[in-house]
Amino acid sequence: MSGKVYLVGGGPGDPELLTLKAHRILTQADVVLYDRLVGDQIVALIPDNAEALYVGKAKSKHSLPQEDINKLLCEKAAEGKCVVRLKGGDPFIFGRGGEEIEELVDAGVEFEVIPGVTAAAGCAAYAGIPLTHRDYAQSVRFVTGHLKDGSTDLPWNELVHPAQTLVIYMGLTGLAETAEKLVAHGMNKDIPVAVVEKGTTLSQRVFTSNICEINQVVIENEVKSPSLLIIGDVVKLQTRLSWFKP
Ligand SMILES: C[S@@+](CC[C@H](N)C(=O)[O-])C[C@H]1O[C@@H](n2cnc3c(N)ncnc32)[C@H](O)[C@@H]1O
Repeated sequence: MSGKVYLVGGGPGDPELLTLKAHRILTQADVVLYDRLVGDQIVALIPDNAEALYVGKAKSKHSLPQEDINKLLCEKAAEGKCVVRLKGGDPFIFGRGGEEIEELVDAGVEFEVIPGVTAAAGCAAYAGIPLTHRDYAQSVRFVTGHLKDGSTDLPWNELVHPAQTLVIYMGLTGLAETAEKLVAHGMNKDIPVAVVEKGTTLSQRVFTSNICEINQVVIENEVKSPSLLIIGDVVKLQTRLSWFKP
């Protein structure tokens, strides 16, 4: 009998943000392949009798190449196992979930995708920043600050838009360039920016500034990955609406 692969979103860090479905499937797994961004408390939920395989993935130094991960998923499923591919956040938001299930489709492996709380939703909630608000932002846009070829060549004109919140994943490395480009394309120099480091965890830190000064704030505070950038007038609400005291 052939097995099945579950592509499971593990959320941004707080283990209680795991969905009931993700929790059920994880605790029934025979094999779990998990990423760097999956927190220790979630890894601890992997059953003792399951095979737990860390497949890494730090920016530009993957501990297991994507092709090998894809191959492993197919091989373990062919052995009739219940295979969980556990990812940080949501598998379909900057998570390469699409690439992994394309391979499963080609190999005829049965699969399910279990969504997770993406970093934008988790970090915004725990930092006290509503991503939309009728007074400040009618739309929100998720972008990656790190493209496949390592550049940060984004559609800058589209990103500079009043009443839009911009959420940048993987935006720390290219932050100086991103800020410069946004201002050069017309972004208001006073636009507030928040950087949320290790959001939803007990190590969460939140820093706010404006688009011109945020990079300096990041340097001075030695902000590390994983961190998320939130740009827009909604950030003005952060001091008033913040509730999470790690
Ligand atoms: C490869 S992407 C994966 C995103 C994930 N699939 C999701 O939906 O959240 C990794 C980036 O997500 C963001 N991220 C993930 N977890 C985070 C957290 N707990 N706090 C801040 N940023 C986080 C960071 O920008 C990090 O560089």
